[in-house]
Amino acid sequence: MKIPMVDLQVQYESLKDEVDAAIGNVLDSCAFILGPEVEQFETAFAAFHGAEACVAVSNGTDALTLTLRALGIGKGDEVITTPQTFGATLEAICLVGARPVLVDIDPDFYTMRVDQVESVVTERTRVILPVHIYGHPVDMGPLMEIAERHDLFVIEDTAQAHGAEYKGRLVGTIGTAGTFSFYPGKNLGAYGDAGGIVTNDTELAQRLKSLRNHGQQPGAKFYYHFIGYNNRMDGIQGAVLNVKLPRLRAWNDARRSHADAYRAGLGDLPNLKMPKESADARHVYHLFVMETDDRDRLTKELGNAGIASGVQYPHPIQLTPAYAHLGYRLGDFPVYEAACSRIVSLPMYPELTSKQVAYVIDAVRRVAGGELTDRLEAEKTSSPVFAAA
Ligand SMILES: Cc1ncc(COP(=O)(O)O)c(C=O)c1O
Repeated sequence: MKIPMVDLQVQYESLKDEVDAAIGNVLDSCAFILGPEVEQFETAFAAFHGAEACVAVSNGTDALTLTLRALGIGKGDEVITTPQTFGATLEAICLVGARPVLVDIDPDFYTMRVDQVESVVTERTRVILPVHIYGHPVDMGPLMEIAERHDLFVIEDTAQAHGAEYKGRLVGTIGTAGTFSFYPGKNLGAYGDAGGIVTNDTELAQRLKSLRNHGQQPGAKFYYHFIGYNNRMDGIQGAVLNVKLPRLRAWNDARRSHADAYRAGLGDLPNLKMPKESADARHVYHLFVMETDDRDRLTKELGNAGIASGVQYPHPIQLTPAYAHLGYRLGDFPVYEAACSRIVSLPMYPELTSKQVAYVIDAVRRVAGGELTDRLEAEKTSSPVFAAA
């Protein structure tokens, strides 16, 4: 049996008629950039969040960059964020000329250590940029208190957490703005690059709409209010997202039940650490990330059994060449650095079948089971999963 990390094919097959018709409408209307499908998605995604506005853009990186620009962040400004993220988060901060200032991460949830944030606030700090990494919400209550005390903007990087909740509120709606990626493999993914920003600040939304389209105001061509960008969403992406958005909640529920099954099947193994969920959080498991001392062996053996696995992310970001100028050293973020060498992700997507989940569990147990290995070896011959392998 082959099990990928994400299976976009199986999802497309289940949506084929609707997606093909929606894309066909865009082709018929030739509304290739922005247009009615994108506007429909903006309205629906804002309504999903109970937010005033959604601004659809070209991808999640541009969503971050535009939001920073729209808030006037630039040279000399500092943005407090987390090292446990995809490169785009730090990249966007640097691209507007600001400086990322990092804090360590929580050992259980991998989100930024909110209790370390205040100690790195300076007179140059303008923004806190939490990342709801892997689908687990950041502890937004104390973070918003710090932001209010120091008069800081909060941009929630929600690229991995569509539909996740903190104390019953959808993430992306708690700070000044929430930025989203609709990269195809995300919990809500388009069929190409796409992104969006959700905010209750309607003036900010207007600035974002202008910035994404070369500084022009909607409906007023060739008059440039700002030096802007070409960061518009394509009509085809809007059409695909309109088909998929009504399924997001059910897909997230399926991810949660796969995570429960993984935990139930693997949680007793002493040499594996399962992902946790804070009492304030509703995790949406963009990724199912566990920890092990022996990652290389686990990933190799899973590969031999046809099971894909991933490492998000293996290299301490502050030590990579692009971010060496920040001046951090090995040892500055011990929890994060330890996680980089121990974390490993199992296949996670809504359409995983219970048979696939059982197959993954059996394979992981076989490798990581330690003292259980012998018993499992004995059971192997009678296991339908291994018989099928
Ligand atoms: C946490 C995070 N932020 C930002 C991005 C950037 O999104 P995009 O790839 O759509 O530019 C990603 C994408 O993987 C991400 O995971």
